[in-house]
Amino acid sequence: TRPLKVALLGCGVVGSEVARIMTTQADDLAARIGAPVELAGVAVRRPGRVRDGIDPELVTTDATALVKRGDIDVVVEVIGGIEPARTLITTAFEHGASVVSANKALLAEDGPTLHRTAEEQGADLYYEAAVAGAIPLVRPLRESLAGDKVNRVLGIVNGTTNFILDRMDSSGAGYVEALDEATALGYAEADPTADVEGFDAAAKAAILAGIAFHTRVGLDQVHREGLTEVTAADIASARRMGCTVKLLAICERAVDGRSVTARVHPAMIPLTHPLASVREAYNAVFVEAEAAGQLMFYGPGAGGSPTASAVLGDLVAACRNKVRGARGPGESAYAQLPVSPMGGA
Ligand code: HSE
Repeated sequence: TRPLKVALLGCGVVGSEVARIMTTQADDLAARIGAPVELAGVAVRRPGRVRDGIDPELVTTDATALVKRGDIDVVVEVIGGIEPARTLITTAFEHGASVVSANKALLAEDGPTLHRTAEEQGADLYYEAAVAGAIPLVRPLRESLAGDKVNRVLGIVNGTTNFILDRMDSSGAGYVEALDEATALGYAEADPTADVEGFDAAAKAAILAGIAFHTRVGLDQVHREGLTEVTAADIASARRMGCTVKLLAICERAVDGRSVTARVHPAMIPLTHPLASVREAYNAVFVEAEAAGQLMFYGPGAGGSPTASAVLGDLVAACRNKVRGARGPGESAYAQLPVSPMGGA
């Protein structure tokens, strides 16, 4: 069988782990796909940095030329951000490739356009790694639960803020002290704005709401409130009421079923709720569906290896489709429910 050619865009923490597993697990992956998979090129921003186990001949700084080559079956985009990722993905579709992306910002901002381009070009777009790292969520919502009716999705989808709130809850620390600890341990970035102001969680909420309700939810339609105002006193009073505070992404179908809402804000949840037991930087998503009932997905929401796991699962799916001349599930935004500005939960 002809080997499938994969182009990797980005070779940071996630990308290098994807490349490593593609090499070390090559035989297993080939057996699962039904054809060998070959790393055909790796686009990086800065040349010269040594990447263990990657053939230097494959490394290029010209990502555009790589996606335009015409012989690439699947492009894996792990560079993040809107541009140049968006243009590269679009170009990849136009040159016959399917795309696996871990890019939550781009999917939240421009998912429908990317889906449409993929559809027009007969290509697949997979993005399991864009929401909650290793936790299977996109595929369960897009496929496994597609015959059910999801009414609510409650998610702890940002590890940094869960770590901060967990520290505040378990040690009585204030917000600043807990943030300093998260930074020292490498959870929070030097500029923690995207996490603590809820932007990261809002992007994930937009993606989750879209696939859970088979509709389109724009990033600007997600009400967002971060956790910078949460005090040690707020956490202590929640405790006295038998609750804890979590930064939740809440996606809901209105009671009349005619609209949906998505929002991110700190919320009190009873200690008896399964989401209350999510500690440290873990993520979890609680789903309520009409026939299935209550489901919870739990695991590591970030990090090179967990995120690579999700990327590779998508890569296998995209490659299997190529081998079989099949197509993935597409956008399936058939309902087109209006999004209300702010939920009435
Ligand atoms: N900053 C994110 C988090 C990384 O803390 O969860 C994963 O998107």
